[in-house]
Amino acid sequence: MAANDIDVFANEEKRNLELGGHVGFDSLPDQLVSKSVAQGFSFNILCVGETGIGKSTLMNTLFNTTFENEEGSHYENEVHLRPQTYDLQESNVKLKLTIVQTVGFGDQINKEESYKPILEYIDAQFERYLEEELKIKRSLLNCHDTRIHICLYFIAPTGHSLKSLDLVTMKKLDSKVNIIPVIAKADTVSKSELDKLKIKIMSELVSNGVQIYQFPTEDEAVAEINSSMNTHLPFAVVGSVEDVKVGNKMVKARLYPWGSVQVENENHCDFVKLREMLLRVNMEDLREQTHAQHYELYRRCKLEEMGFKDTDPDSQSFSLQETYEAKRKEFLVELQRKEEEMRQMFVNKVKETEAELKEKEKELHDRFEQLKRMHQDEKKNLEEKRRELEEEMNAFNRRKVAAETLMGQALQGCSQPFKKDKDKKKLTCQTVTQAGARLFTYHRSHRCSRHVQHR
Ligand code: GTP
Ligand code: MG
Repeated sequence: MAANDIDVFANEEKRNLELGGHVGFDSLPDQLVSKSVAQGFSFNILCVGETGIGKSTLMNTLFNTTFENEEGSHYENEVHLRPQTYDLQESNVKLKLTIVQTVGFGDQINKEESYKPILEYIDAQFERYLEEELKIKRSLLNCHDTRIHICLYFIAPTGHSLKSLDLVTMKKLDSKVNIIPVIAKADTVSKSELDKLKIKIMSELVSNGVQIYQFPTEDEAVAEINSSMNTHLPFAVVGSVEDVKVGNKMVKARLYPWGSVQVENENHCDFVKLREMLLRVNMEDLREQTHAQHYELYRRCKLEEMGFKDTDPDSQSFSLQETYEAKRKEFLVELQRKEEEMRQMFVNKVKETEAELKEKEKELHDRFEQLKRMHQDEKKNLEEKRRELEEEMNAFNRRKVAAETLMGQALQGCSQPFKKDKDKKKLTCQTVTQAGARLFTYHRSHRCSRHVQHR
């Protein structure tokens, strides 16, 4: 069907017809109900509040059961979330309930980042749903919807108003989730103080532009009760799973030495109001608001981030194919740019390494030249020394020959007949002694030098 045909069809005046009898399509709401009942429902509650403020007790009281409870410690380094899912059934209605509680909220010295894990958790559930929605083969009806439908923000009853952590956290979350603020452990504050605290909290929320969930007043059936309940916010709640006998009735209450606080007594606290609003009257609206308002906003931002838009700047109708092509081109250009950048980086790196290697090579060459020169100098010195030694040896040999000649002459002299001249004899003997001594010295030093040469 062309777009023009659709326009004509839409503009065509609708004609009313009277039916002749019962046809049966008035059972459509019943069909929807039975289909929904068969499918079951999911409802996800997020409890944000300081450690030990009464989150688990309130959940147990709200659903009149005992969920798994793990006490948090006050020494967590950062905030994290603990989700727990339960299958519940009331009459023939099945409910997949997920309760997510903060762990370690408000326990850190620096609380600046405390809201982040909560925000990330909420976004992660939206992302999960969006991924399922964008699949070619999707099964949205069968998949477990984990998007947070309501955030119960627990305000400490102590103090005169909200803490900055409360304001910052609620402000960060208000566009992501339906927030209902509750004053926890309301039995620890007097009635007049509680009234003042409620007024103060509401005025602070308004002046800081924090959007909390307003019970809808469009539907006539619930308009009155909802608008009246809107004036009671934030609800002052008390939680207890203890059954106490009051009169002849067993009721949920907290027992004190001076009396008891009944959880379901509207004069004692707003627990019943909270349960009415949350579970009996507005559960479906909370689910709807989550889908139509918070998820829609997330989806729109995400798709716009991905390059999808309903109309282009010239108000031409949006084409998925064109957007896809444009994105693909954009991606390819980016890819090419990155490739070029990496190639350039590689070339630069190679150049740098080459220069470094050349520098090293030059250094090595210089060193080699220096060593070569040193070696030549040493060689020259050794040559010089060798020459000197040879000269010394020659001189020595000459002396040796002279000494031997002298010795020979002396010995010859001794073998001739004794001269009468006493002085002559004496002289000869002296000469012999000197020659002998020289010969002895020569032999000794000659032996030594041979020994050195040998070594
Ligand atoms: P973590 O999960 O450890 O962060 O604690 P929580 O916020 O779940 O608190 P929990 O419900 O475990 O309650 C902590 C203590 O507060 C328990 O001793 C409860 O009995 C008590 N408590 C819970 N609700 C109330 C209440 O409404 N009034 C008073 N006075 N005490 C409460
Ligand atoms: Mg708990």
